[in-house]
Amino acid sequence: MNARVPQDRPERAYDIVLFGATGFVGALTAEYLAAHAPAGCRWALAGRDLAKLGRLRERLAAIDPACAALPLLRADAADAGALRELAASTRVLATTVGPYVWYGADLVAACARTGTDYVDLTGEPEFVDRMYVEHDARARETGARLVHACGFDSIPADLGAYFTVRQLPEGVPLTVDGFVRSNALFSGGTLASALTALSRGPQTLAAARRRRLHEPRLLGRRARGPAGAPRFSRETGTWALPLPTLDPRIVARSAAALERYGPDFRYRHYASVKHLPVAVGGTAALGATVALAQVPPARQWLMNRWEPGSGPDAERRARSWFSLRFVGEGGGRRVLTEVSGGDPGYGETAKMLAESALCLAYDALPDAAGQLTTAVAMGDALVDRLRKAGITFRVADSR
Ligand SMILES: NC(=O)c1ccc[n+]([C@@H]2O[C@H](COP(=O)([O-])OP(=O)(O)OC[C@H]3O[C@@H](n4cnc5c(N)ncnc54)[C@H](OP(=O)(O)O)[C@@H]3O)[C@@H](O)[C@H]2O)c1
Repeated sequence: MNARVPQDRPERAYDIVLFGATGFVGALTAEYLAAHAPAGCRWALAGRDLAKLGRLRERLAAIDPACAALPLLRADAADAGALRELAASTRVLATTVGPYVWYGADLVAACARTGTDYVDLTGEPEFVDRMYVEHDARARETGARLVHACGFDSIPADLGAYFTVRQLPEGVPLTVDGFVRSNALFSGGTLASALTALSRGPQTLAAARRRRLHEPRLLGRRARGPAGAPRFSRETGTWALPLPTLDPRIVARSAAALERYGPDFRYRHYASVKHLPVAVGGTAALGATVALAQVPPARQWLMNRWEPGSGPDAERRARSWFSLRFVGEGGGRRVLTEVSGGDPGYGETAKMLAESALCLAYDALPDAAGQLTTAVAMGDALVDRLRKAGITFRVADSR
């Protein structure tokens, strides 16, 4: 039983509602819940198209016949009233409806107002900063835990840095560097969200500035996630290219919230590439994508090349893997750790989103509310769940 749920909160119809269940990651998340939700879990499928939800439910019934009775809830992301009803019907709302900067804001507002725990898959810094400014204070009042980025963005980085810090001494300055490797492909939905985020540089900077004005200053401690410089890493034997994703910001927020990260914490996030020509080619391709994303017809052309709802097939996903290696240092100790698993963008992301929702619904967790990171909201409880679900957290070397 979750210790934080206020005793006077009226009982909700559901433990978990999955919104966007018919999308590429949504359907994988639904399949994961069908196979792994504990007996007695009251969960429901939500989306904008009842017929599509019905077809998904038939597929789920093949995994677990009890799923034939799953409730189907209709809501469009543009219908604030329907979203409010959806939020009020459940203890935890998990959503895959993105790009979040287009479709996500009203649902976060509804969860903050109704005291509903919320998890999503955004990797969009602008969205996270806007939601902090607009809804953090209300969520603290209602007790809602708003946890963004519960997929490959940013769970391996956030919980990997958390796990690394816990191997290092307490009360001393700490540095952690994270190195990402993967062979995975992406879906139409991910491409749409990434291109949207890349095309909104000025809005992203403005949202970050507004957040800085609202957020209380950290007194007597430092927690930073600066961009590093490209370099050869002797620790991993690979080329390290700075990755300016949401991940380092999330890690820095966990460090700001948790004393365990010490008085002065720094996290740097890199893509890790074995061969120099691949590093140079990858950097050029990323630069070209950023440039194309600024030109609306080029952006649309790129988006049209991958249909919404499409993504790598099961055979390709089965061959995909990810690894995040961390080098942590402080207080005279040095530790090398790793978080690794299968297909990061889809199979493992669906697992991470579903386990985050189950963790908020059922585990005894720290007493916290408002916009939270996975490390702050769930920490060890989510690490334990993900380990049991097949994601590796390990110490590779410690001196
Ligand atoms: N954090 C990570 O590591 C990670 C990994 C993978 C994906 N993602 C993110 O997850 C999101 C989903 O990706 P995806 O590949 O699953 O995309 P997708 O297949 O295009 O699915 C999008 C979902 O949103 C629904 N939707 C769209 N507009 C809606 C509206 N107006 N009202 C209600 N529902 C609406 C779609 O419903 P219909 O089925 O009815 O069209 C579909 O269920 C993207 O933002 C992507 O960037 C994040």
